[in-house]
Amino acid sequence: MRAVDMILKKRDGEFLQEKEIHRFIEYYIKGMIPDYQMSAMCMAIYFKGMNSKEVSSLTMAMANSGDTVDLSPISGIKIDKHSTGGVADTTTLIVGPLVAAAGVPFAKMSGRSLGYTGGTIDKLESIPGFQTSINQEQFIKQVNEINLAIIGQSKNLAPADKKLYAIRDVTGTVSSIPLIASSIMSKKIAGGANKLLLDVKTGNGAFMKNKEDAYELAKTMVTIGQEVNKETIAIVTNMDQPLGTAVGNSLEVEEAILTLQGKTKGPLRELCLYLGAHMLVLADKVKDIDEGIPLLNNLLESGAALKKLEEMINAQGGNGEVVKNTSLLPQAVGKHQVKVRQDGYINFVDAEALGFAAMILGAGREYKDSKIDLSVGIKIHVKREDKVKAGQTLLTIHYNDKVKLEGALKIIPKVFQFANYEVEPEPLVYGMVSQRGRFTLNLKL
Ligand code: URA
Ligand code: CA
Repeated sequence: MRAVDMILKKRDGEFLQEKEIHRFIEYYIKGMIPDYQMSAMCMAIYFKGMNSKEVSSLTMAMANSGDTVDLSPISGIKIDKHSTGGVADTTTLIVGPLVAAAGVPFAKMSGRSLGYTGGTIDKLESIPGFQTSINQEQFIKQVNEINLAIIGQSKNLAPADKKLYAIRDVTGTVSSIPLIASSIMSKKIAGGANKLLLDVKTGNGAFMKNKEDAYELAKTMVTIGQEVNKETIAIVTNMDQPLGTAVGNSLEVEEAILTLQGKTKGPLRELCLYLGAHMLVLADKVKDIDEGIPLLNNLLESGAALKKLEEMINAQGGNGEVVKNTSLLPQAVGKHQVKVRQDGYINFVDAEALGFAAMILGAGREYKDSKIDLSVGIKIHVKREDKVKAGQTLLTIHYNDKVKLEGALKIIPKVFQFANYEVEPEPLVYGMVSQRGRFTLNLKL
């Protein structure tokens, strides 16, 4: 079948066969199908959608387009965790040590930041000496020894996804749920885990701005997991305000450390315990999260999880002392405080705008090859619902460059909205989707 016939088929709302999808991707990677035909195919998928068989076929075609990681030399059930991306979302650096301390291997490949959402690999590189590119053999050995390793993705992981994403980015076809779901799942599957926990963020600071789309994405990814025999649980969580209190690479590492020291409490810690507990359930360590959460809480309070982080840092060539002394992390030269103008309650915190402000300071990448500054970022001292007084500090901006500070300050007025009445709290977790269906939780974490 010619490429154009497959495009016509999809354009007219018919379903593509597994073989056709595999061939389309294979020929695209080999350069036998040009970008303009792939663009037309993406647009057809954007408008006509895909059924679950098609999405799974596309996922597997992309997963097998490059290197795949074999985690079988690591004993036990290997579970990967993925966040669809948010602001002040430092969960991996906390959840990894937590579940590793509970005896569940955490062998993770992470990405770099792009746009206003952070990337775990950049954050880790703010730890002096820390190596994120270690070879496969060492990676496996380290996980077998200490249950924990986080490294950068191999350049040749799901290359079809990279090529496709670049086309989607310039053809208005990024926000197609089958394309997003297959993109994310292809990389997770190539990464070799047996089971997956997905944190699907929704709200102004997330890719999915509304809950219904987030549930749809969650359901699509869980279905792919089911089709390819990798049990998947997706949690739909609130990204209407930053999750933690720090945006920026070394600031987020500091927050992860303070959280594992038991010093910082709040939604980031709560969500990490919750996500971690689901991972323990997937790993058959506990029967439910009501058993998992207290178990992880003890590992946090006892310092066992912090010790795991220290072990990982030392094993990957970093200075493990940072877990006791966060001033060893890169520090920005200037600090600028933003104050509350009048008494009231905070009823809106624009996570996306804060993420953009941090990117302008140099904490994030506007383009794939932008250089980032690991020391800059923003500390957030208040959250939605807080009662505040005039003169109180809202934010501390850590900067190195006055011109960039001015740029970031132009965005700050949009970040907060105030009310003169008490603001109702919103849930941190909206619900979950598992192979057994969709559950909306009435859970206030
Ligand atoms: N993240 C991905 O990895 N792929 C997408 O298509 C969107 C978000
Ligand atoms: Ca992240």
